[in-house]
Amino acid sequence: MKKELEERGKEALKGIAGAQTPEELYEVHVKYLGRKGIVTLMMQGISKLPQNDRAEAGKLFNKSKKSLEEAYAEREEMLKAESVKRALNERWVDVTLSGRQYEVGHIHPISQVQQEVEKIFSEMGFSVMDGPEVESEYYNFDGLNILQNHPARDMQDTFFIDQEPTKKDGHLVLRTQTSPVQLRTMEKYGAPARVIVPGRVFRNEATDASHEHTFDQVEGLLIDKDISLAHLKGVMQEFLTRLFKRETKVRFRPGYFPFVEPGVELDMSCMICNEQGCRVCKQTGWLEFMGAGMVHPNVLKAGGVDSQKYQGWAFGFGLTRLVMMRYGIDDIRLLSSGDVRFLKQF
Ligand code: DAH
Repeated sequence: MKKELEERGKEALKGIAGAQTPEELYEVHVKYLGRKGIVTLMMQGISKLPQNDRAEAGKLFNKSKKSLEEAYAEREEMLKAESVKRALNERWVDVTLSGRQYEVGHIHPISQVQQEVEKIFSEMGFSVMDGPEVESEYYNFDGLNILQNHPARDMQDTFFIDQEPTKKDGHLVLRTQTSPVQLRTMEKYGAPARVIVPGRVFRNEATDASHEHTFDQVEGLLIDKDISLAHLKGVMQEFLTRLFKRETKVRFRPGYFPFVEPGVELDMSCMICNEQGCRVCKQTGWLEFMGAGMVHPNVLKAGGVDSQKYQGWAFGFGLTRLVMMRYGIDDIRLLSSGDVRFLKQF
């Protein structure tokens, strides 16, 4: 019995010392020290010994068990420490490295120019209005004197929302222009009014370098007593001069838009060649800038404004085009591409 105990003890010690992982060590524990381990089973054998031998065997047994348990605990501690060390080595951290720099985003070029436009018009006493991008056919077309058979209402130009039309408002559409906000402004604030409306508009077009299905416009509306196109000329000349930070001239040409009468196209003097004629202005010295005109009496009426007492003008220009002109961008699609390499340049 004594001899066997010694032998088993040695065996167990060897097992403990040889265990390379906590799992291996645990197996040794189960085999020798666990509830059904060899050592435990031997202890049960003590009761079968003659009375006289029992005390000595018990002592021996306890001593042996204690030393095994101590060896076990020690080895366990060591393996744990080793595994921590290994993990630290695997996930080595250089605490002297400087931190990783996060890239800070910046304002999109369209928003940058929009902010400038808003600032200049605000300084001239205009408020900035907003309107819905999903608009009713009434506000986008009928209320603006655009008749039912106008080609702009064609399925090919306008995105229609797939929903039953209502009698009053017609279909829902993605607004094709910011002009509907003229009506919303008049309905909400009446006359006099002096607002600009920057906003996103949508057209169902094939895209190419100069056409996008989504782009930005800025609408303008001024209604008061004794207003003429001379005021528009003055306001736009001042606006463009401040925006381009150089003396800029404007001129009118006749133009047609259903919601104005008379309608005009406004050109600005080419800031690249100073009216000398260049590639950008196609040798004319002038760049087409926007559509405008005196607000049509039908539109004033639809907006609830008394056209006998008040009149005014409206304009609409492409903010996206203005950005392209300003920075010499030759492909409109770049602006909505989300390509950081492009955007980083502004
Ligand atoms: N809404 C027109 C367009 O998208 C632009 C425009 C022309 C707006 C004349 C106006 C205007 O307010 O008077 O092409």
